[in-house]
Amino acid sequence: MDAAIKTEGLTKRYGSFVALAPLNIEVQKGEILGYLGPNGAGKTTTIRSILGLIKPSAGRAMIFGLDTQSNKVEAHQRLAYIPGESTFWPNLTGGETLYLLGKINGKIDKKYMTELIKKFQFDPTKKVRTYSKGNRQKINIIAAFMTRADLLIMDEPTSGLDPIMEQAFKECALEARANGQTIFLSSHVLEEVEALCDRIAILRSGKLVELGTLPQMRHLSALSVEATFETKPPRVDHIKGVSNVRVIGHQLTCQIRGPIEPLLAAIIAGHPKSLLSREPSLEELFLSLYGGEKINKDQPQ
Ligand SMILES: Nc1ncnc2c1ncn2[C@@H]1O[C@H](COP(=O)(O)OP(=O)(O)O)[C@@H](O)[C@H]1O
Ligand SMILES: [Mg+2]
Repeated sequence: MDAAIKTEGLTKRYGSFVALAPLNIEVQKGEILGYLGPNGAGKTTTIRSILGLIKPSAGRAMIFGLDTQSNKVEAHQRLAYIPGESTFWPNLTGGETLYLLGKINGKIDKKYMTELIKKFQFDPTKKVRTYSKGNRQKINIIAAFMTRADLLIMDEPTSGLDPIMEQAFKECALEARANGQTIFLSSHVLEEVEALCDRIAILRSGKLVELGTLPQMRHLSALSVEATFETKPPRVDHIKGVSNVRVIGHQLTCQIRGPIEPLLAAIIAGHPKSLLSREPSLEELFLSLYGGEKINKDQPQ
């Protein structure tokens, strides 16, 4: 059975700059793959190369076994794509734009389109040039989901959406998966990927640095531990794997990488009043991968 997406050494260079190092990735049918990376990591370059919208410097990409350079038309019939940046016809209304996008794609589920318009609280009667960024993004999202395409390739689809609409997006994505559709979702919004994706790929400076399920990636980061004591907290900074120790009054917080027993033993010996440990969020995973490099969550490009 052909994968929904398969790349073989897919590479993109601009002069001597490597925007995408040879990428080998397979997205299985029916899964949601999160493609995470900070701005400039190469997410859009990857997507455009996969789609055959830019010519890869080397390698190839297949959609359901169809090469997207030599079989572009057939490959594109199986998918819907939300571009990172889109320009629409400014003088058409939202409804007319959806109609045209549907025509271009060839098949749309009209009933579902009406449901989507309602779900995203989208007013299709206004001219596109009057829409906010969020409303223009809704056009992209509705246009993609209404096709019920086998594969949805989405480049930062929720940029510009408010939290309620982000929730609506998540519901649609999960519904699409339940329907057997496959989603390639690029994002630098960590919570989105955490909530939705079966597997996560992390891209940094054009290179795939991680690929796996969320539980598979947790080992990369530390476990956060917080304990409160009746008196001064015990010393733990000498314990192997412990880092970021902070003591404020009677409260101790730290992170532990590797076996946690020695830390727990030290805490218990200090007679804790409360103990909290939690798995790291994806944001913390990023931090452990990228060190102090800040991820900009508020300014999608
Ligand atoms: N046409 C181009 N010419 C030269 N460099 C480019 C071009 N398109 C993208 N890049 C560079 O490739 C890198 C990856 O960009 P992009 O794929 O847009 O990242 P992302 O989508 O993850 O934010 C960036 O450093 C960007 O400046
Ligand atoms: Mg991009």
